[in-house]
Formats: sequence, structure tokens, C-alpha cells
Amino acid sequence: MECSLTSLIEINELCRAFGSLEVLKRLSFTMGKGDFVSIMGASGSGKSTLINIIGLLDNTFDGEYRFMGIDVKRLKENDIVRLRAKDIGYIFQAYHLIAGCSVRDNILMQTHYAHKKVSEKEYRELADKLGIVDILDKKAGVLSGGEKQRVSIARALINDPTLVIADEPTGNLDEENTKYVSDIFESMHKNGTSILIVTHDHNLAAKAEKRYLLSEGRLTEVSDE
Ligand SMILES: Nc1ncnc2c1ncn2[C@@H]1O[C@H](COP(=O)(O)OP(=O)(O)OP(=O)(O)O)[C@@H](O)[C@H]1O
Ligand SMILES: [Mg+2]
Repeated sequence: MECSLTSLIEINELCRAFGSLEVLKRLSFTMGKGDFVSIMGASGSGKSTLINIIGLLDNTFDGEYRFMGIDVKRLKENDIVRLRAKDIGYIFQAYHLIAGCSVRDNILMQTHYAHKKVSEKEYRELADKLGIVDILDKKAGVLSGGEKQRVSIARALINDPTLVIADEPTGNLDEENTKYVSDIFESMHKNGTSILIVTHDHNLAAKAEKRYLLSEGRLTEVSDE
């Protein structure tokens, strides 16, 4: 059995079905701390289904999943919520910002869930890095797609998570914002953050050290050229 102290994610024989539709079929996957991994695959192949499980948003699966060495099946709901808030930054494809709340509140809300204190300086630095300083008082609902994307990245990073999971993080962005977001992932990776990206963008996928294709319910590693 694979078991390594450096493994962040260890998945063995994972199965996930919706009724009679078998989406993930005895899928196995390992990811180490500090790795930068991308997953591509046709629409409907199960990418979001897989990262919802990895991101501790869905616990309805068969097989084994260890996150940071912890068997997530054994965790109580409260422990899952705390682990997710503290160690996982999730960038949703559809942003999932609270439209009626300010950008500031959308971001800082995360620190409350994780029971974490973030200094004004750290928060300002992050906002500055993401180019959102001027929109902190705006309501999230009125932002452009690119702004929402950057705010959702700030929200995912505010607790300095062990793992950042991003579902189509550049799906709705123009070229300039795509480059911006892609540079941010590279710099986070250099700082030691583990990154797992699902994308249809070949250029973004190619930035990762390890690239996988999800097809017929399983992951296959894609080699160079
Ligand atoms: N909650 C659900 N109930 C029923 N079927 C579901 C559910 N979630 C996903 N599915 C189905 O599972 C399959 C995989 O969906 P999933 O969202 O994981 O695909 P995807 O690879 O992320 O696609 P895309 O690239 O379009 O985002 C699809 O056929 C989808 O209809
Ligand atoms: Mg999806």
C-alpha cells in the first residue's frame, strides 16, 4: 500500500456514482506537498466531481481518501468543516461570492470560518497582489468577471492554505487576466503552496509539473510531447 509522510492526497480505488451513472471508477491518485498538478478532460468526464471530493465538499464515495494522512471517511462533519477552512482554498468556477456583501467581507469571512487571525498588513498585501485594493468596498455582485475571479482567488488564499484547488480558474477571463491568474499560481507554487487545477486551457495546464487526463472514470498521467 502506498503511504508516504510527504503525501498530501492519497486516493485509492475511488468510486463515485450518481444513480446508475458511474462517474469515477476505481480511480487512484497521489499528490505530494508542494506539487503543482493539472487535470484536463472532456466536459462531463467527472473533473468537478473528483475535486469536490478532494476539496472535502462531497463525502459520498466508495474507496479510500486520505488528506494530510487523515482518512476523511472517519471525520465528523465539524472536523471536515474546520479542516476545509484551515487547509483548503477552493476557487469555484462560478466564483460563489456573496453578491450583497462587500469584497472585503467576502474575503475576511473565510478567516472567521477557519478561526484564524490575519493581520491588516497581510490582508492588504494579498489585495495588492491581486489588484483589488480599489474595489474592496464594492459589493461583489457588481464586479466584472475578471474582478470576481481575482476576489475569489484572494478568498481562497487569505488563510494561507496547504492546498489550493481551482476549478476552471481562467474559464471566463480575457487574455490579460488569464496571464495574471496563471502568474499568481506560479508564484504561489514557488512559495510552496500545493496547487491542483482543473482546466480546459492547455497553456495553463502546461504550467503544472504533473498533468493528468480524466477519462472513463480514471486519471492517466500525460507526459511531455
Ligand atoms: N449532483 C449530481 N447529480 C447527478 N449527476 C451529476 C451530479 N453532479 C455531476 N453529475 C453528472 O456527472 C458527470 C460528471 O460531471 P462533472 O461536473 O464532474 O463533469 P466535469 O468534467 O467537471 O465537466 P465540465 O468540464 O463541463 O465542468 C456529468 O454527466 C454530470 O451530469
Ligand atoms: Mg466541471
